[in-house]
Amino acid sequence: MNSATKPRVPLRWTIQTQLPVAYEIVETPDLLDPANPELLSLPGGGTSTETRLVVLDHSVSDLYGERIRAYFDANRVPVAYLAMPGDERSKSIGNVLDVVAKLNEVGTNRLSSPPIVIGGGVLADVVGLAASLYRRGIPYIRVPTTLLGQVDVSVAAKTGINFGGYRNRLGSYSPPPRTLIDRGFLATVPHRQIRNGMGEIFKMALIKDLRLFELVEEYGADLIAARFQDGEATGPLPAGVADEVIGRAIAGMAEELQPNLWEKDLRRSVDYGHSFSPLVEMRALPELLHGEAVAMDCVFSAVLAAQRGLIDGADLDRITAAAVGLGLSPSHPLFCDVDLLTEALADTVRHRDGRQNLPVLTRIGAVCFLNDLTVAEIASAADHMGRLLDAARPATAGSRG
Ligand SMILES: NC(=O)c1ccc[n+]([C@@H]2O[C@H](COP(=O)([O-])OP(=O)(O)OC[C@H]3O[C@@H](n4cnc5c(N)ncnc54)[C@H](O)[C@@H]3O)[C@@H](O)[C@H]2O)c1
Ligand SMILES: [Zn+2]
Repeated sequence: MNSATKPRVPLRWTIQTQLPVAYEIVETPDLLDPANPELLSLPGGGTSTETRLVVLDHSVSDLYGERIRAYFDANRVPVAYLAMPGDERSKSIGNVLDVVAKLNEVGTNRLSSPPIVIGGGVLADVVGLAASLYRRGIPYIRVPTTLLGQVDVSVAAKTGINFGGYRNRLGSYSPPPRTLIDRGFLATVPHRQIRNGMGEIFKMALIKDLRLFELVEEYGADLIAARFQDGEATGPLPAGVADEVIGRAIAGMAEELQPNLWEKDLRRSVDYGHSFSPLVEMRALPELLHGEAVAMDCVFSAVLAAQRGLIDGADLDRITAAAVGLGLSPSHPLFCDVDLLTEALADTVRHRDGRQNLPVLTRIGAVCFLNDLTVAEIASAADHMGRLLDAARPATAGSRG
């Protein structure tokens, strides 16, 4: 063959690099005490004199706005405030763009004046996504103020908004370099929202921590009543229980996330309780909170495990009773809807790149993964969920029919 007609070897360049990632979660009491420097400390040390954007959840603004302003005033840090609602429907692209517009208005520096988000998981996800898009990514500081935010979102590297009827359909992996936790914020969180956070603690206990499960069984209701606060109102709560429960939940999450932060391995035990619930939660909006739907999925997945003989009936009853003890309903009409549950699993399979990778319990504190769950098994578990629903109804309300 003539050399002029020889096919040319393609030229190829490969860029290979590594991205070291480190972010810290700091538990600090009295975060809003002007003498506490944590809120002003920048990642890597030092402070900033530039204007900071502080995004506040509406409720946080109402309840803590004055103290937050006093904190920054006392420390002579100029601040621009933006308040946003913190409900699931606020996880929208519109709210992300509002944050971006405010960053422009404030003139936030690329690195040295990171915005601060103070609120629940919704606001953390919205502001986190805005920060990850702004100038292709700037750091931000996260202050979770709900139980769910403190035990779950606090460790997460992910941001996200809902889109097209699906949860977290748009998002990014962009952990804030600093997350600050002050349990004192929980004192004003409504009891239903505390129970909601308990849903994620319940999940963590089930997948890897029998001691945490026992603590939740014994003290869960008291912790909710006391909103995880110390003091006289805590009644039967021994000292240290609130710290131990929050600490074990955070440590468990950190241990699970660290080796698989970018989710290259789609067999994730922390996905327990998150296989069927995402679609159920979206279809039930605004009725169900995230942690409430997760707790139901935890029970549903335990039913699947019991049907296969992976756990025994006594464990299933214990798990169901623990959810009820936390004031979390173990079932819901949508968890009896076989078509919806099958559709939910189909979307989860796409999310897990074509495999079910369904975490199910082998005992309280351990999971294995299934890839061969059938519609018949879903139908039989849905039937069980129907019986749980009937059992929870007052006798006069009649049966599900
Ligand atoms: N990024 C992640 O990996 C990750 C992990 C878990 C959950 N999430 C997301 O977190 C969201 C749920 O978070 P959430 O449960 O914190 O809900 P949320 O942000 O909606 O907050 C719940 C309610 O509590 C109010 N609130 C917040 N702090 C308060 C306080 N200190 N006192 C009184 N009221 C207060 C809010 O205004 C809101 O009405 C979901 O959208 C979920 O997808 C994200
Ligand atoms: Zn969750």
